[in-house]
Amino acid sequence: MTAFREATIDLSAVTENVRHLRTLTGVQVIGVVKANGYGHGAAAVATAALAGGATRLGTATLEESLALRRAGITAPLVAWLHAPGRRFDDAVEANIEIGVSSMEQLLAASDAAPASVHLKVDTGLSRNGIPTEHLERVLAEAARLERIGRIRIVGVFSHLSGAGPEDDRAQLARYAEIIAQAESFGIRPEIRHLAATAGAISLPEARLDAVRIGIGLYGLSPFADRTSADLGLRPAMTLRAAVAAVRHVPAGSGVSYDYTYRCERDTNLALVPLGYADGIPRQASGRGPVLVGGRPYTVSGRVAMDQFVVDVGDAPVSVGDEVVLFGDPTLGQPSATDWADAAGTINYEIVTRIGDRVPRRTVT
Ligand SMILES: Cc1ncc(COP(=O)(O)O)c(C=O)c1O
Repeated sequence: MTAFREATIDLSAVTENVRHLRTLTGVQVIGVVKANGYGHGAAAVATAALAGGATRLGTATLEESLALRRAGITAPLVAWLHAPGRRFDDAVEANIEIGVSSMEQLLAASDAAPASVHLKVDTGLSRNGIPTEHLERVLAEAARLERIGRIRIVGVFSHLSGAGPEDDRAQLARYAEIIAQAESFGIRPEIRHLAATAGAISLPEARLDAVRIGIGLYGLSPFADRTSADLGLRPAMTLRAAVAAVRHVPAGSGVSYDYTYRCERDTNLALVPLGYADGIPRQASGRGPVLVGGRPYTVSGRVAMDQFVVDVGDAPVSVGDEVVLFGDPTLGQPSATDWADAAGTINYEIVTRIGDRVPRRTVT
């Protein structure tokens, strides 16, 4: 029987995607499993990524890395976005590497000594990362703290904007300057890492010692003009629900809030029990693609908090029939990218926002 609502997570897809990107890039893969593994379930995808040859995992926050440790993940972990004033004793205790973006964080790492750190440097994105005006002071202090055994500098890293090849190459050039500057202080990082999925695939010179793979792990394309299949990747998440109700309505019936959809003829409406509280974007009202009983339709009218409606015409649809919102387009299913296009966003947001009310079922 089809589950009421469910996201199936194909862990063998994750393992194969990592294997593929490792072979393609020829460098270490850091599997990025922040935000609950982009909505897929962090511990499960972490294990699958390690099985595919990832040598390290990355999260945004230490809390995410600590949760992975509690789930039994023993591989190297790095976390890079910290609350102001956060101390790092628990991170060091749990053998988690600390991404350091400021003097304050460097000193906090030293206070928790001996701490393993990755210095995060801003090469143009203007987000976190040590800003240029503080770089010299932070590099000098980091080198000193390493000399006296308070910290070990495992990595120096940065993040690309993806604004275009020119901009990415400018960031790479800036990164090379910073590495030279770090070396002049005696810093010799084991792992230099810059590229995420897009850079790893399209900018070979940015692969350095390791690439941080997020969206590619989950089998989705970071490019507007290339599909998962074009990149040799297989989407890991399939989002399904069971038709919760079917009703026959006369021509002219309004459907869902605001009646943005009105039935042109007598028809059948299928109720799908997923809404914006589950991460189905309301912006995709009237546009999101679905398969109902294996046939393609679009959402009719507004996506509501818990449900939406599909006009299935004369098709023989019954309560309990399977609805697929997205999955693997090579199997004829809509893709997360189709939903992103329908909602005016990116596939990252579609999978990451799938809510807690949707049980994840892992398959291998
Ligand atoms: C610092 C950093 N590295 C790597 C990634 C992974 O990026 P992607 O999902 O595009 O591979 C992210 C995600 O946003 C990130 O913030």
